[in-house]
Amino acid sequence: MKKLISLGLMALISIIGLSAIYRVASAKEQEPSGGKVTIIYDAFGKPSDLERGWGYSALVEYGGKKILFDTGGQYAAFKSNVDRLNIDLSKIDFVVLSHRHGDHTSGLNYVLEKNPNVIIYAPIETGSFGTPFSAPQALQRKVELLPNDLQYFDGKLGKASVDSPWKNANIKLITDTTEVTPGIFLIRTVSDVKGTLELAEVSMAIKTPKGLAVIVGCSHPGIEKILGKISEISPNIYTIAGGLHLVDKPDDTVRQTVTNFKDKWKLQRVAAGHCTGHFAQVEIAKVFADQQDHSGIGEVIFLP
Ligand SMILES: [Fe+2]
Repeated sequence: MKKLISLGLMALISIIGLSAIYRVASAKEQEPSGGKVTIIYDAFGKPSDLERGWGYSALVEYGGKKILFDTGGQYAAFKSNVDRLNIDLSKIDFVVLSHRHGDHTSGLNYVLEKNPNVIIYAPIETGSFGTPFSAPQALQRKVELLPNDLQYFDGKLGKASVDSPWKNANIKLITDTTEVTPGIFLIRTVSDVKGTLELAEVSMAIKTPKGLAVIVGCSHPGIEKILGKISEISPNIYTIAGGLHLVDKPDDTVRQTVTNFKDKWKLQRVAAGHCTGHFAQVEIAKVFADQQDHSGIGEVIFLP
């Protein structure tokens, strides 16, 4: 009898052991990636109950970090999509605001309701996200005959500051390329393009085994200018996701840019969204074929 029981126990232990090994193997098979990007907010995508809107927001999960990149263009639509995607904003490690435009910042108040102390990285630029302000020379000019009541700060200029619209938010300003957590970089570039002259934008680059995975908001400074700056970290760039701002560019410029993605920048994949534009999406499909990731609202892009 004892022998029978011990044989049964041995069989049970080996079944448990085998199923544990099987579970590990199948978990590995189901997890082909080191991380993922979930598109929370955009104006296109596969049919779903998510609200389309002009703007961009994505949840980036990599190396144990959860990063919210931009917050969409409307508070209500952003809130609705975050809730429908079951994203717990209280668990976000940090937020990146790529630039000051409303189509990337309008959901921030919802983030702050759920996670009031979360670190928010944004590009430094005068007057947008709460800029440290020490009175510049122009304000300090002494002019004879100027009555006291027309003098700035009663003629006693000291240190002052300009709040952001999110006065109590924990905003940290990015001046230049910064590794904010191991393997994750924020890169600041400034636009010299007509229409967004001097606008500063922050892009994110994540080190992966296959090269950098780059997330961009709107690429106002120019996607190739951004790639140039990012290539100072590493010339090996695996993929780009986000708004490439090719929507208003001439067809020839779009064709050349997309060709450069492949031939000059050696990108292996492209997950273009937001302000990339219809024409550019087709050009990307022609050049990248099945290496184009459709990245509409609700879509998940896996990173190596
Ligand atoms: Fe935008």
